[in-house]
Amino acid sequence: MPHADVPPVPTRNAAAFPVDALRAEFPALAAAAPFIYFDNAAGAQAPRQVLEAVARHLLEHNVQRGGRYPKSVAVDAMIETARRRVALLLNAADPDEVAFGMNATSFIRLASVAVGQTLAAGRDGIVVTDLDHHANISAWAALERQGATLSVWRMRADLRLHVEDLLPLLSRRTRLVACTATSHALGTRTPVTAAAAAAHAAGAELFVDAVHLAPHAPIDVQAWDCDYLVCSGYKAFAPHMGFLWGKRAVLERLPTFREEFLPDAPPYKLEAGTFVYENVAGMSAAVDYLLALGARLAPGSSGRGQLLAALSGIEAYERSLSRAMLAALAAVGATVYGEADPAALEWRVPTFCFNLPGIAPAAVVRALAAADLGIRDGHLYAPRLMARLGLAPETGAVRASLVHYNTFAEIDRFQAALAGIGR
Ligand SMILES: Cc1ncc(COP(=O)(O)O)c(C=O)c1O
Repeated sequence: MPHADVPPVPTRNAAAFPVDALRAEFPALAAAAPFIYFDNAAGAQAPRQVLEAVARHLLEHNVQRGGRYPKSVAVDAMIETARRRVALLLNAADPDEVAFGMNATSFIRLASVAVGQTLAAGRDGIVVTDLDHHANISAWAALERQGATLSVWRMRADLRLHVEDLLPLLSRRTRLVACTATSHALGTRTPVTAAAAAAHAAGAELFVDAVHLAPHAPIDVQAWDCDYLVCSGYKAFAPHMGFLWGKRAVLERLPTFREEFLPDAPPYKLEAGTFVYENVAGMSAAVDYLLALGARLAPGSSGRGQLLAALSGIEAYERSLSRAMLAALAAVGATVYGEADPAALEWRVPTFCFNLPGIAPAAVVRALAAADLGIRDGHLYAPRLMARLGLAPETGAVRASLVHYNTFAEIDRFQAALAGIGR
């Protein structure tokens, strides 16, 4: 069945994707060669224009915003530009629905603390999943101390979340459903549009963790009709920072902490304290990087269409990487957790969780490090998921995570390195 949230992407010739030209825009890749970076789910590299935007901010505008002199006025303007860029990335109706901060985890906590204050008798149900990063579970689970009733939307044996399993958990008591748009561990996509419709039918809200989807595919908060969404810039070709989006009306009624001098309106009511301006400038430039890719792939496109051209091109190329990764993992006899059907690639991004039979995950990752390949092992910040997979969280699994600057030649080296382990 086609993924409800993913429009079918025409099959493309992978050769048409300008991967070599794009790699040349990421100086860190050349600087690290021949090192292969397959740990992108932990943080992606940044293109030159992002590095330049950060440096330019520090060189030319490293002052506090809100002043009357030109440099400070320029910081205010940069922040507003960045809000517009991120709004374009999310297809948000209003840039003021975008708040900047340190990271996704602290925004999830901020939202959960605020939602916690709105729990009422008869409206205290919170639903989390057993697929999510623990950041989008633990903050919500902490509300149990305030009387929230927690339930868990569980994956089926296919390791996917099905909306049919969410429906029986929802009732007039449900306050909020928190789920990921894409698993950072398995690479699996989730049916967020259907989840939003189901949550709303019960009078509840949907909080989406889009951290792992952002570098791989379009986000559309209006089409999804979710209520909140969180992202990390550093997973999406920008420096370390995070942002929270919420529907204006939802954010307006959210009781957040703010100092009295901040306006009681989004985005300011979500931005207590100073965030890292240079990294917000970098986030803005990361969207510009995608726009430039869109212009290259679809000359004449503009605005959101240009962004969609970039992300559809990335999706199509990444599906061909996923196909090659699944073949490589099958060739070395790996146990792949998550969608492993090459005919169902619309359900995944190129993030692969696996084990090699009889070899400890840490040993696999050490062997690949010795072969100049960066991948990761462990519980992957998803202990509930590890429990579902029947894996001990202390050892967990191996994760190799690719983005659009990775290549087929790198996958060949990855496969050869895996094949050489213990032999
Ligand atoms: C899916 C997902 N959610 C949340 C987080 C936490 O993000 P941050 O480091 O910005 O707090 C991560 C980080 O790995 C993640 O992959």
